[in-house]
Amino acid sequence: MGEDFGSASDLERMLDDLFPYRRITETYRRIPESGASREEVLTEIAAMSKAEDAVGDAGRVSGSLYSGDHEHYHFLAQVFEHFAHANVLQRDMYPSATKSEGEIIAMAADLFHDPQPVGVVTSGGSDSLVHALYAYREEARERCGVRMPNIVLPVTAHVALRKGAHWMGIDVRDAPLTDSFVVDVDAMAKLVDDDTIAIVGSAGDYAHGLIDPIGQLGELAQDRGIGLHVDGCLGGFLLPWAEQLGYDVPPWDFRVPGVTSISADTHKYGYALKGTSVLLYRDATLRARQWFASTDWPGGLYLSPGLAGSRSGGLIASTWAAMVTMGRAGYLAKAQAILSTNDTIKAGIRRDIPELSIIGDPLFMTSFMSDVVDVYLVNDALKERGWRMNALQLPPALHFCVTGPNTQAGVAVDFLANLRLAVDYALEHQGEPAKSGAMYGFGAMPDGDQTLRAVMGGVLDAMHVAAPEV
Ligand SMILES: Cc1ncc(COP(=O)(O)O)c(C=O)c1O
Repeated sequence: MGEDFGSASDLERMLDDLFPYRRITETYRRIPESGASREEVLTEIAAMSKAEDAVGDAGRVSGSLYSGDHEHYHFLAQVFEHFAHANVLQRDMYPSATKSEGEIIAMAADLFHDPQPVGVVTSGGSDSLVHALYAYREEARERCGVRMPNIVLPVTAHVALRKGAHWMGIDVRDAPLTDSFVVDVDAMAKLVDDDTIAIVGSAGDYAHGLIDPIGQLGELAQDRGIGLHVDGCLGGFLLPWAEQLGYDVPPWDFRVPGVTSISADTHKYGYALKGTSVLLYRDATLRARQWFASTDWPGGLYLSPGLAGSRSGGLIASTWAAMVTMGRAGYLAKAQAILSTNDTIKAGIRRDIPELSIIGDPLFMTSFMSDVVDVYLVNDALKERGWRMNALQLPPALHFCVTGPNTQAGVAVDFLANLRLAVDYALEHQGEPAKSGAMYGFGAMPDGDQTLRAVMGGVLDAMHVAAPEV
């Protein structure tokens, strides 16, 4: 930390990073008197999207983009346009949304072997997880009178579950991992008690892309008479194709008897536009716990399936369109390219970069740590070379989640060459503080968590400075 940390020039630099357009485009702080021309707006938006897409399109970004096929995006945008303005809350006006939503759920249920197509379409992975959490809390309250609910999950379960638990007063009990970086089922069993509303497993987890032992978790859930939610937000729409392609995919879906709900994101490997995910339930009673109906409001009888009120028909229609136009053949071909690119990356690291060790044997991402070099220094060097990896902690590691754009010819080989150079850089700069590892250092401060939370809160404040002055 420099001596002038927190100075006006630091703040300006940070604002320039967060708001790179503030010096080159008009900044609106008030609705303009007469509207800007559509042409000007389109030109400005097109320029920004072109610049921002360039890195991802080159295949140097981990995760985030998934399809990468701009013709596909264009088609989805065309479909979106037809219903962008439609509010699916008004079902009498838009019965097409009822059809599309039902078919999205049916297709997902078929893919994950749900005995009956019972589900909802939500706005994303976090939304699906939080709704599942709510349904389990209500179920436990109604059925067993649980007033001090807890949920038992692997430490690697997605953080949105913690957010939801925090909002809903649910205690989170962290189950540790085995040496293979999947949840330790025996340790999890010890954390379950009469107030446990459900247990969770991931397929695969965000950090390492690994599939928890869902079969054993299913037995535990049945044994204790509680639900098991499988978070397939990330892997859900990829694993069925991996299985068909002959990859070793342990059982994770509704074929495992104890699994009671699954979340899977259409806006990730389902290749839909951002803003949708599917939450499936084994039975309709649990799903009904998330329904909301009000009979005595002056605004009228009100009914909604979850937190959202108005929802755009465009997203429902375009998600449906993504699924039916990809088709099984399209999903399979894309999965094949993604999985084989990841195979190349894993094999290359094992062969040429002994300083790194791959965490587990993930199918669609490669997550690596090191006993020899500081992986955050490796990340610094990769960043310099235009790569955008995801930095992890506990233990320090990086992951490369392989998606469509990364499957372009030459990307994996190029990455391996750059990774080798990045590790050499880290060897040469051993002991120096890493730029991308700032958070890591903070974690070791005496009141690390408090300080870190305050700093992170400050980052959010900075991101939400509305139209900062230049
Ligand atoms: C395993 C897993 N679950 C949930 C989420 C949350 O999804 P979203 O960002 O769509 O809210 C993610 C996001 O990457 C994930 O990897």
